[in-house]
Amino acid sequence: MFPSSLFIILLCLIKISEGFNFKDHFSTKRLYPIVTNKATPIKVPETCELVQLHLVSRHGARYPSPGDNERFDTLDKLFANISLAKEWRNPFNKFEAGLLTSRGERELYLLGQRARKRYFKFWKNITYNTNVVQLQSSTISRSGQSGIAYSLGLFEGYGTLGKMKLQPVYIFSVPKKKDVELLMHHACPIWVNISKNNPETKRQLETFLRTHLSLNVKRINDLLGINPPLKAIHLDYIYRACTFEVTVFDRSDTWCSLLKKDDFLKLEFYHDLLYYHYYSYGTLFNTKLACQYYTNMIKSVENFLDGKSQLKSILKFGHAETILFLITMIGLFQDTQPLKSDKYFLQVNSQKFRTSKIAPFGSNIYFEIYNCTNRYDLEPNYSTTLIQVLVNEKPYVIPGCYKYCPWNKFKAILGDAINCDFKNMCKSNNFNNTNNIEKILLQ
Ligand SMILES: *[C@@H]1O[C@H](CO)[C@@H](O)[C@H](O)[C@H]1NC(C)=O
Ligand SMILES: *[C@@H]1O[C@H](CO)[C@@H](O)[C@H](O)[C@H]1NC(C)=O
Ligand SMILES: *[C@@H]1O[C@H](CO)[C@@H](O)[C@H](O)[C@H]1NC(C)=O
Ligand SMILES: *[C@@H]1O[C@H](CO)[C@@H](O)[C@H](O)[C@H]1NC(C)=O
Ligand SMILES: *[C@@H]1O[C@H](CO)[C@@H](O)[C@H](O)[C@H]1NC(C)=O
Ligand SMILES: *[C@@H]1O[C@H](CO)[C@@H](O)[C@H](O)[C@H]1NC(C)=O
Repeated sequence: MFPSSLFIILLCLIKISEGFNFKDHFSTKRLYPIVTNKATPIKVPETCELVQLHLVSRHGARYPSPGDNERFDTLDKLFANISLAKEWRNPFNKFEAGLLTSRGERELYLLGQRARKRYFKFWKNITYNTNVVQLQSSTISRSGQSGIAYSLGLFEGYGTLGKMKLQPVYIFSVPKKKDVELLMHHACPIWVNISKNNPETKRQLETFLRTHLSLNVKRINDLLGINPPLKAIHLDYIYRACTFEVTVFDRSDTWCSLLKKDDFLKLEFYHDLLYYHYYSYGTLFNTKLACQYYTNMIKSVENFLDGKSQLKSILKFGHAETILFLITMIGLFQDTQPLKSDKYFLQVNSQKFRTSKIAPFGSNIYFEIYNCTNRYDLEPNYSTTLIQVLVNEKPYVIPGCYKYCPWNKFKAILGDAINCDFKNMCKSNNFNNTNNIEKILLQ
């Protein structure tokens, strides 16, 4: 008996270690997991027809931001005398900071190709013009390029230009500080004070570093004899360097080789904690930031159904923050207990709010609008319109609704959050203190 049970235990251990891929734990620096141009056509609910399609997508993989570039320069200095890391000089230059990489171009091109296949019947009936298909991106180049890449994938073979039958498209942007739909945090001056500079946010992050990462960094200090020793925050720098070595160069034998499974899980949680407080449920104010997007989306659906517009598809290209504010307003991926630094061990296995899953490079949200002859939902609020939400091309149930959510119910769920006065909500003189704002919003 003994040897065979040992064998089973061994087998289980192998299974567990096979199941862990550190590249799936890169938080918002994870590459988009679907890498094919294939997609299965959608199944439409009975008596319904897909009549309008909305997309909000993050840009594809990019080079490190200027801030990360500085962190990597710091790592160079800290490891200057460590022979193992001699060859690991910061390989990124500041002129490429934040730009879309070729992998990122491809992520969005493939997303566009899959959209053609998944919604084949829908697109078949559409000839591109700006009254029928609207594209918008943030003013940041990686998002604009992502929109172009998506449109190339979507329309290739259906336009008129050249051998590939390309379709030139128009993409518009609004200035950063006025971009209430895609860069809502930049368009909302008070967001910095309420969410980003929130003392509770800072406390959570610092506590997590101190209580959960100090042993992990000590292991590396001891292993390599680093003196003066690295601080816990430097483990985060190593993690960031690792993610970009993989996403840009497909290289994991440098910084990544210093990190173990436990490090990846904790650093992933640290980033989840950060995004949770900056852009999601961690601060109540964040649940309102997508109100202008949803208000306009609802208007464009109703205008279309009322015959006041011809717009069949609205495609927008933004950022991880955009995706997070959008899922937060409709209550997706919300844990029953708030994410907290001291709850790490309790939460890490069951956590719904995982940025690696929700907001990797090229992450996206589709809203499918169906027009039906059946009546859905209860009288007297019945709908003949349904909405389904997809996050990263998988359907999700909006909390409080069904997979295909009746339009009136969807609007009732959003309630007062739509038709907000965004400008007024974001005015600095509304800000007395964080508690005050939180109280106002709770009412
Ligand atoms: C590396 O070694 C040089 C020469 O011994 C010394 O000047 C420098 O301070 C060391 N740097 C670090 C980070 O230890
Ligand atoms: C396709 O377009 C035609 C003409 O524009 C319209 O009558 C028809 O309802 C459309 N069908 C679909 C599936 O959208
Ligand atoms: C909000 O934060 C900014 C940047 O930290 C600061 O300059 C500004 O005074 C703050 N506004 C209020 C109302 O506290
Ligand atoms: C929605 O369906 C109804 C019939 O059920 C039809 O009269 C109407 O034209 C459709 N609207 C759109 C926008 O396809
Ligand atoms: C029914 O619709 C009204 C008006 O749109 C709304 O106020 C109410 O909350 C809805 N009721 C339900 C149960 O959805
Ligand atoms: C902020 O404080 C002032 C003075 O206490 C008060 O008049 C004002 O109503 C407060 N603003 C909000 C939004 O609570």
